[in-house]
Amino acid sequence: MHRQPVGVARTAVLIAAARANEQRHLDRLFDDPLAAPLVRAAGSATDLSGVRNLAGDHFVLRTRYFDDYLSTATTTAGCTQVVIMASGLDTRAYRLPWRPGTSVFEIDLPDLLDFKQQALDALEAAPSCERVAVACDLREDWPRALFEAGFDPRKPTAWLLEGLLMFLPVDAVEQLLRLVGGLSAAGSRIALEHVNRAFRDLPQMRAVHDRFDELDARWQSDVENPVEWLGRHGWTAATTHQSELATRHNRSIPAITDPVKVGDARIWLAQGVRNEM
Ligand SMILES: C[S@@+](CC[C@H](N)C(=O)[O-])C[C@H]1O[C@@H](n2cnc3c(N)ncnc32)[C@H](O)[C@@H]1O
Repeated sequence: MHRQPVGVARTAVLIAAARANEQRHLDRLFDDPLAAPLVRAAGSATDLSGVRNLAGDHFVLRTRYFDDYLSTATTTAGCTQVVIMASGLDTRAYRLPWRPGTSVFEIDLPDLLDFKQQALDALEAAPSCERVAVACDLREDWPRALFEAGFDPRKPTAWLLEGLLMFLPVDAVEQLLRLVGGLSAAGSRIALEHVNRAFRDLPQMRAVHDRFDELDARWQSDVENPVEWLGRHGWTAATTHQSELATRHNRSIPAITDPVKVGDARIWLAQGVRNEM
């Protein structure tokens, strides 16, 4: 068996554990039958249960938000390529009903992707799209790795940056957005999650930061105005607040995102459409 995820890759197990928990409910917001076996193969995520207790219901709403984004982007919006950056133990390539001819590229660190592949093979899981794993460090020359994996910049692409940007320094985030923009043909879409400074500074987040520090997974960046920021990078964007998602899906608003409890602190969920250049 391959080495179980360590360091920052363990955060992927945390998110998969939240999806596995949602899978146990009849009124679940998505179907992810592979989440629980992946978490078991990864050696559970009980060491990160404090984080899941704090943000698990946000992870569930965000999963559905990005599922819906990918569904629209690859059907009505016509994107034939999807790039999931820092895909972790995301199983969308297996569980979403992709249009025939859709390619889904998953970028993450080599050890994590090796572990995931072996665990999925052991489960005899088959992707519902053309899935391409791209083992690469996103601080290095990932566009080249993506090209070598068959990515075509002439095709409209749906990008997904979920649970990633806060782990990168500001200059790496800016560089990432610049590179993504340069690879985005007309009609491309982007969706991402980020946080603002007030969220990073919440007293409730102190224990999370301490735990992430132990994993060498310190949060290093934030953004105050994602719509304006994405606009500077060539996207017409909008955010959706968790309260809106909670109402839409008949759930309670996650406490960690409730303005009554956290004031101006925000976990941003944003989507954008590529501007004509
Ligand atoms: C919180 S997890 C999110 C995983 C997935 N997007 C999800 O929401 O389930 C963060 C992921 O970022 C990956 N990651 C962190 N730094 C990275 C880097 N420099 N290059 C590639 N992947 C990275 C980790 O391996 C991990 O899988």
